[in-house]
Amino acid sequence: MKNFLKSRSTGEFLGRNHMIEKYIAAAKSRIAFKHLPKLMQPRYTMYQYLLGSVAESLVYQKYCNILMLGTGRGQFLPLLSHLLKDGTFMMTCDARDKGNGDACALLERWGNPNSDVFFISGNSDDQKTKEQVEHVLNQSVDKKIDLLVCDAGNTRAQIKSDLVFWSDFLSDRSAILFTGAIWCHDSVKVLVDDIVSDYSVHRYCRNKDIKMFPNYIDDWDNSDTPQRGINPSTMRPYFQEKSCKDNLPTHALDQKLDLDKFHDSKDEFEGVDFTYELILTHPGSIILHNVGTKSWSNFSEKIHAIA
Ligand SMILES: C[S@@+](CC[C@H](N)C(=O)[O-])C[C@H]1O[C@@H](n2cnc3c(N)ncnc32)[C@H](O)[C@@H]1O
Repeated sequence: MKNFLKSRSTGEFLGRNHMIEKYIAAAKSRIAFKHLPKLMQPRYTMYQYLLGSVAESLVYQKYCNILMLGTGRGQFLPLLSHLLKDGTFMMTCDARDKGNGDACALLERWGNPNSDVFFISGNSDDQKTKEQVEHVLNQSVDKKIDLLVCDAGNTRAQIKSDLVFWSDFLSDRSAILFTGAIWCHDSVKVLVDDIVSDYSVHRYCRNKDIKMFPNYIDDWDNSDTPQRGINPSTMRPYFQEKSCKDNLPTHALDQKLDLDKFHDSKDEFEGVDFTYELILTHPGSIILHNVGTKSWSNFSEKIHAIA
């Protein structure tokens, strides 16, 4: 039992919710995706291991209303559904709805049976999507969003647009999860760094070992470039998604990962505006948590001001 409850990536216990444990274990062994023939073709699904690392950070809290931008095949949804407070909702949108069936199958098997999940067809920054989210939020005990998951387009322009578009909906102490901090390092991580540059931030990373699987993968999908993660000799990603390199400001192109800036844990962050957790588990993610007194509209103004 003890081993089952242990997360492979950091050795911390997740034990709070056994359904989350079951889903994470099933994702890691890919049993969770058995009904999805296309996902069985690659050796690694995108979030197979990241789900466990993200769960370790989020599992001790419950969230009022969660908005996921980019439903995809819904690999994140079962985990998120278990984090919802009673009487609140999960909303998920995608420009294409062809993954909704797969997402529902995952939710049915591994999700929280008491959670209400609303699927929205539309762009993440489309007015119609906003109206549908507003409609759902109006039925909720809390009208705000506690957790925003940015997983639609991972270009710098798209993330900026999504953040500005949704900032008014975020509750005072909410969190934003950005996926692809390594896979799309030059767009995602550099942008988050640019945005928080004027704030006081507690940065931490619970597992900085860049040579350890699954922070480092050396047999990705039998491709010509099988390495994923951070190259220790350059401290840059071995591989990045091509589309994320488009239209970047020059300062975003050569930034190295400076792990010395990151504490080892979340401890002792009093007095800061944000906690910023970097998760190196492939494809990487960042959890930005508003723990201070600065409002998200202040944040949105900052986004307008940067290139
Ligand atoms: C990486 S996948 C999301 C994976 C998903 N979150 C999961 O848990 O499996 C990205 C998804 O975002 C969608 N997408 C891309 N740009 C979008 C946009 N501007 N608005 C809405 N969806 C978008 C794509 O259709 C794709 O399904």
